[in-house]
Amino acid sequence: MMTSKEIRESFKSFFASKGHKIVPSAPMVIKGDPTLMFTNAGMNQFKDIILGNAPVRYPRVADSQKCLRVSGKHNDLEEVGHDTYHHTMFEMLGNWSFGDYFKKEAIEWAWEYLTEVLNLDKERLYVTVFEGSPEEGLSRDDEAAGYWEKYLSKDRILNGNKKDNFWEMGETGPCGPCSEIHIDIRSDERRAEIDGATLVNKDPDVIEIWNLVFMQYNRKADKSLEPLPAKVIDTGMGFERLCMAVQGKVSNYDTDVFQTIIKALGEMTNTVYGQDAKKDIAMRVIADHVRTIAFSITDGQLPSNAKAGYVIRRILRRAVRYGYTFLGQHKSFMYKLLPALIETMGDAYPELVQQQTLIEKVMKEEEESFLRTLETGIKLLDKQIADTKAKNQAQLSGIEAFTLYDTYGFPLDLTELILKENSMTVDEKGFKAEMEKQKERARGAAAVETGDWVTLKEGDTEFVGYDFTEYDAEILRYRKVKQKNSEFYQIVLSHTPFYAEMGGQVGDSGWLINDNEKIEITDTKRENNLAVHLVNKLPQDLTATFTARINIKNRTATECNHTATHLLHEALREVLGSHVEQKGSYVSPSVLRFDFSHFQKLTDKEIRKVERCVTARIREDIARVEMRHVPIAEAKQMGAMALFGEKYGEDVRVIRFGDSVELCGGTHISSTGRIGSFRITNESSIAAGIRRIEAITAEACEDYFYTQQDILTEIKGLFNNVPNLTQALHKFIEENADMKKQMEEYIKEKTVQVKDALIKKKQVLNGIDFYILKGPFPAEVVKDIAFQIKGQFPENSAFVGATEHESKPLLTVMLSDDLVKGRGLNASQLVRDAAKHIQGGGGGQPHFATAGGKNAEGLAKALDEIVEKIK
Ligand code: ALA
Repeated sequence: MMTSKEIRESFKSFFASKGHKIVPSAPMVIKGDPTLMFTNAGMNQFKDIILGNAPVRYPRVADSQKCLRVSGKHNDLEEVGHDTYHHTMFEMLGNWSFGDYFKKEAIEWAWEYLTEVLNLDKERLYVTVFEGSPEEGLSRDDEAAGYWEKYLSKDRILNGNKKDNFWEMGETGPCGPCSEIHIDIRSDERRAEIDGATLVNKDPDVIEIWNLVFMQYNRKADKSLEPLPAKVIDTGMGFERLCMAVQGKVSNYDTDVFQTIIKALGEMTNTVYGQDAKKDIAMRVIADHVRTIAFSITDGQLPSNAKAGYVIRRILRRAVRYGYTFLGQHKSFMYKLLPALIETMGDAYPELVQQQTLIEKVMKEEEESFLRTLETGIKLLDKQIADTKAKNQAQLSGIEAFTLYDTYGFPLDLTELILKENSMTVDEKGFKAEMEKQKERARGAAAVETGDWVTLKEGDTEFVGYDFTEYDAEILRYRKVKQKNSEFYQIVLSHTPFYAEMGGQVGDSGWLINDNEKIEITDTKRENNLAVHLVNKLPQDLTATFTARINIKNRTATECNHTATHLLHEALREVLGSHVEQKGSYVSPSVLRFDFSHFQKLTDKEIRKVERCVTARIREDIARVEMRHVPIAEAKQMGAMALFGEKYGEDVRVIRFGDSVELCGGTHISSTGRIGSFRITNESSIAAGIRRIEAITAEACEDYFYTQQDILTEIKGLFNNVPNLTQALHKFIEENADMKKQMEEYIKEKTVQVKDALIKKKQVLNGIDFYILKGPFPAEVVKDIAFQIKGQFPENSAFVGATEHESKPLLTVMLSDDLVKGRGLNASQLVRDAAKHIQGGGGGQPHFATAGGKNAEGLAKALDEIVEKIK
């Protein structure tokens, strides 16, 4: 039996023999494409080429691509685990032709690979072709059907509708009709009973394994189709399903891809797979999700609270929750599955091995933190259950269930399970309504409407920003973008010195200038490798030639920060060790941020050492060495640091400042001396095993030093510029503490005096003893006296305070218990009513209450009212 590793290799070598260049998988987490968070198909990394934005280097390409289908148009998350053939992360085997071969060869080779290399049973294979769509003006794909007829009888070539046989990557973008290959995995007996052809796209026992897409169109924002510049073949074969078919299994999870993990999980939890339906689902969920999380982390995406990070966090929580509910795992456990994952996939994906410690640490911490939330949620649910029962009801409201879902990560089925144990149900409709409301809110917040590009001039854009800060340019195309409360335009230029945001470096701002106009460019973003300039208004003459000029001051400040980031990276490895790896960075004109793997907080001493290291390199004034178009192997030989989770081309750009050598597409200052100075302003943790340093350079440093100096000068001035400021400060603090102590004693004595005087002035009104305090006293003193009076005279006594402190009036009432219980008096009610005279409010308990206000003039009236009522 072929192992999964052998199957993966056989695919690559088959297509290599057909003249294909075998390329590595692109990262699963996508950067620089606002329309997509994760790679959801093998073709994603070739989108630029398919759209004609990037040159075709190799007309034939094949690979195995890590994909994730958990958001956007392709989202399988809820199915995963419940069936045996969906996954969050999966590998997609694919072959591509960019303007080279088309349907004929694609079909021929697919058939050859499946039936001659893998020896799959021809009798079990079915194919589908696009039936056409009158409303799109598309007819049946007779061409593809014709090629298939060479291998299969007509009754095994089935028509498929737009949903199944017209593939689109997203709402817009490349698309086209497709032809799918399905395999019947049923037993011979069952096959004899029912014809497999009737089960295609209806029963998972006849399952799709390979999709051959014939890309011919680009779907525009207005939903219309336009022809693509060159026809493209894009195929995608589900690797896990293929392994199932080849290994003669009926579930993807029975293949060696998952069995190693499932076995390890079974040993850990004392569970045998295949004996209990619910436990099996949980085991599949965990085996699937642990791959996704591990691969996301190696691609640089840690679980977090936003965007892609949040998706990963939710997947992790889903797995933990299944483990918790169905496998009794109340402590972190998933991270212990890493060795099993590495056993099956470590060879093909060495990053798993290299980053094992980090992955385990991050997973463990995330698991633990979620388990704490889960416990809190369970307590809350217990309380909700008790409250609902107390109201004699047996149904939890939709809002309560939604809070559990949204804040504590409780999926509805977990809430239902716990409720069921208490013979209760949940208002499912109410829950769904809350869910809809939240989706609506999210849609409203994120709604971006992007118009179609208006092309003014054909041609490619050329980035000249490594060599020029201004350049003559024409507008190639533009489009309008509408966001919640704003509207702006994106434009593409024939030549641009503007750096488009990438690799942590922010985009340039600047202007488009000619004799008649000056248009501000507020930012430059990258979209599918295209520099897109943002402007709030379009030039009047769109066809004119402009000088595109960047804001040099900002660019220089950014370059100082970017170069300093490289020096910092080098310094951290020198001071802390070579385990330090970049995990993220942000470089703007005002600040730089650098995230890296390291397992404990940096000491003050280490921070100083790093700072000294960087400033030493600055003083050495090392000149920048920039090498463009270096073959990647050569760059690595130079010791250039490459990041996992980045997509590198064949040729890379290398930036060197002395010992610091990095693969980098960003812009850098000409020599380190120009950075001037460098200071770390903050060091913190952003996730398990990941630290973050924030730092400043150049002018920002100068500002920082001046601010510090000004503070010091001011403090010195306050201390009459004594020669030894620290000593003076210590003395000041000690004296202050002494004084505070004395003051407290003085107040204590004074309070006793006031209280004694008050007792002497006791008034008896209507048989009740009244102690009335007026005058300027702080609130704590009044409260203290009130409690002392009550302690000394526990019966038939009322203390009423109408005092003021720093022009703020205060009413205080303290009643002995017999007045409260026997006479039904209520201090809280009394002060609340009387507070109107002092324009204020307050309250408290029946025996003691206070009210503050704004108008001290009204104190006498308020006092009269209270005394009158008590009487
Ligand atoms: N892009 C095609 C798919 O993902 C091959 O199914």
